[in-house]
Amino acid sequence: MKTRITELFGIRHPIVQGGMHYVGLAELAAAVSNAGGLGILTALTQPTPAALAAEIARCRAMTDKPFGVNLTFLPARRPPDYPGYVRAIIEGGVKIVETAGNNPETWLPALHEAGIRVIHKCTSVRHALKAERIGCDAVSVDGFECAGHPGEDDIPNFILLPRAAEELRIPFIASGGMADGRSLVAALALGAEGINMGTRFVATREAPVHEKVKQALLAATELDTRLVMRPLRNTERVLTNVAVERLLEKERGLGPNITFEDIAPEVAGVYPKVMQQGEMEAGAWSCGLVAGLIRDVPTVKALIDRIMREAEVIVRGRLMGLLDSDAGCAPRS
Ligand SMILES: Cc1cc2nc3c(=O)[nH]c(=O)nc-3n(C[C@H](O)[C@H](O)[C@H](O)COP(=O)(O)O)c2cc1C
Repeated sequence: MKTRITELFGIRHPIVQGGMHYVGLAELAAAVSNAGGLGILTALTQPTPAALAAEIARCRAMTDKPFGVNLTFLPARRPPDYPGYVRAIIEGGVKIVETAGNNPETWLPALHEAGIRVIHKCTSVRHALKAERIGCDAVSVDGFECAGHPGEDDIPNFILLPRAAEELRIPFIASGGMADGRSLVAALALGAEGINMGTRFVATREAPVHEKVKQALLAATELDTRLVMRPLRNTERVLTNVAVERLLEKERGLGPNITFEDIAPEVAGVYPKVMQQGEMEAGAWSCGLVAGLIRDVPTVKALIDRIMREAEVIVRGRLMGLLDSDAGCAPRS
């Protein structure tokens, strides 16, 4: 399938694997890129820029296809060494960067100078337009369904994507709630040029996370995510567990007086415990509503091939068929 996104990134299928803390390692990114999508390493999972440089080299040894690096700019008590990470990306010869969180404007000149395409992930039309204005090459439009940070507007993709299509000139992909061929066709119908998936890729064989995480996604339904940190205006969609319910109880109890310190035990340092040790009650970790559509743990290639096959069947079979039968039923004049 050819879209403005496959052309921009030099990939075969319009399917991107979004940056994921402690999931976006070389094993997963290379598997996605080898299967014809765009795999993305997550910079901040690497403790230092030197470690990111090593991870980029490891990924390059696993694939000769394009892959990207995610740079997330979120509120932090001690900001990471962003200049160092940007240098590691540029010197590592990576040609695609997914930015997320705060405005990436500061970093665009250096990235563009190095011939890097930047796709900014954002959760509102106004932020997408801002990304276009400052020179991003594409945007990933992340609806309210998404895992991680959906922003504070709560607009689901059935409205957000066509609104983005009305306003944007640069290409965009649909993110949040994407799982299968139905999602891809729907996203294309709403004006997107492809899809970005997070949660669905966690439940794949190659995702380098504890088996219990994959089993948790299989067991979860669309009713099992929660929005945490809303009072701090840093809302995150996570899978519910004992720690998450305790966190929500604190939010209810402390109301607007809550601070990050109050909930640090439930949100700080959680990812290595969950993703590597399989401590499923350790705290809050991102998970999308799409958990309700995940029923298996295929290889990345099997998943991507299935999505493309399903999309073709839907378009050629079901949708074209509807038009054909419509012609057959047209009233005679
Ligand atoms: C476990 C997990 C960790 C994530 N970590 C990050 C991150 O560090 N930076 C980021 O920009 N997005 C992160 N995301 C969000 C994804 O990149 C993607 O935008 C989101 O998962 C899309 O929604 P979906 O899960 O419904 O596909 C994470 C998602 C998951 C599931």
